[in-house]
Amino acid sequence: MAEKDIRELVKQAQEVSKNAYAPYSKFRVGCVLQSESGQVYSGCNIENISYGLTICAERAAVSKAISAEGSKFRVESVVIYTPTEMPITPCGACRQVLKEFGDNFEILSVCNSSEIIRTSIDKLLPNSPEIKFE
Ligand code: THU
Repeated sequence: MAEKDIRELVKQAQEVSKNAYAPYSKFRVGCVLQSESGQVYSGCNIENISYGLTICAERAAVSKAISAEGSKFRVESVVIYTPTEMPITPCGACRQVLKEFGDNFEILSVCNSSEIIRTSIDKLLPNSPEIKFE
């Protein structure tokens, strides 16, 4: 990710976090995915009174990307924003879903302090299967 792009993507992740539907946790998350084709897709978390039905910001962004680009969509990079003092990385379910659509892409987590986590999907989800059924 180029520095100039990062600033813009972080801004977008902050913006979309404001749209989160998080009445239960009050934890608003914003995610921005850049696709290999250069498009940008954003998502926020969407909670439900049946807690387990909650959709994380990362999976909301993947849904938009696939809906727009179809199955050729490949992740180039991911930026996650939380309004916290420490950055957070995607949950296990989101790591698995993100991994389906890209090869060792970068993941940047930012928050309200200067703390950041810059990592990659292969570091967060090592030794995952490469087999694809298509
Ligand atoms: N959440 C995300 O949207 N992304 C993450 O990476 C971690 C957690 C959401 C789910 C739930 O709405 C809230 O944050 C608290 O867990």
